[in-house]
Amino acid sequence: MEESKKVIFSGVKPSGDLTLGNYLGAIKNWVKLQEEYECYFCVMDLHAITVKQEPKDLRRRTLEILAIYLASGIDPDKNTLFIQSHVPAHCEASWLLTCCTYMGELSRMTQYKDKSKNSGGSISAGLFNYPTLMAADILLYQSNLVPVGKDQFQHLEMARNIAERFNKTYSDTFALPEAYTAKAGAKIMDLQDPTKKMSKSEKNVNGYILIMDPPEVIRKKVNRAVTDSLGVVKYNDEQLGVKNLMTILMTINNVTIEEIENKYQGLGYSQFKKDVAEAIVSELEPIQVKTKEYIGNKAYLEGIYKKGSDKASYVSNKTLRKMQKKMGFIPR
Ligand code: TRP
Repeated sequence: MEESKKVIFSGVKPSGDLTLGNYLGAIKNWVKLQEEYECYFCVMDLHAITVKQEPKDLRRRTLEILAIYLASGIDPDKNTLFIQSHVPAHCEASWLLTCCTYMGELSRMTQYKDKSKNSGGSISAGLFNYPTLMAADILLYQSNLVPVGKDQFQHLEMARNIAERFNKTYSDTFALPEAYTAKAGAKIMDLQDPTKKMSKSEKNVNGYILIMDPPEVIRKKVNRAVTDSLGVVKYNDEQLGVKNLMTILMTINNVTIEEIENKYQGLGYSQFKKDVAEAIVSELEPIQVKTKEYIGNKAYLEGIYKKGSDKASYVSNKTLRKMQKKMGFIPR
């Protein structure tokens, strides 16, 4: 039974505090996958350092993300929860795959192009190589499905291409991963500029809501969210701010566009915004409480990530040994 389950791999990198976008677009949906799939949920700390990190922030965020996974309802007995750097196979496989990847492919990645544009000239080689490490993450577990946002599709396709190339050169080794796109996998936009995805790297703090933002901050940010002068709650591309707030409400309260449009007919934005804020607060508050509890219990967290990395190491090493053998390395 266990064996026949499809494998899911995903993760978030601790390069900034997680936002409502990370929660509604990713983590909340992972909770629904745990019954049906064999899931690996990882904290991608090795990916975080592709751009400069303050060590104490990296440390804090890595544990906080693990705590958020748990607080959101990801069951550590049903899933493998671990920290990427605790499983050396990721780095080892990444080197082997780096040697099966072309400079040309890597330079075409839009994330690399975008990020290196704003970096003021000092771009790490790690940022360039980011997709090969991500390919290693995915391929080591023979992952079938990878729940990621659209911005990661190009990297996923690259992982698939590398896998196909390896399989062709050295015989069948890797399962070919596909994107898992949930119906409800909402893309949450910036509250100040709803043409952009909500992001923790945004300079204007009013543009995003953090999972750990206190209720009064959430209320203030929603209240300040950009709307328009039409004054009608309607889901369309002329009213991107309103559309985004509706998406948030739909995802949290499980209601339809029509239900929201009907409810706020003739009411203007003030009540609508209040309700959106309360929906967010009531969704996040219990998660915040639990997250803080887990963070306060370091021994428990340690037990979780140790158990997770044992399991992950066992599974990934099997694939890594196959790769090494096929490439011609002497077995240890
Ligand atoms: N690149 C992903 C992101 O920024 C994070 C990530 C790293 C990841 N390795 C992964 C996601 C493997 C899914 C699978 O969101």
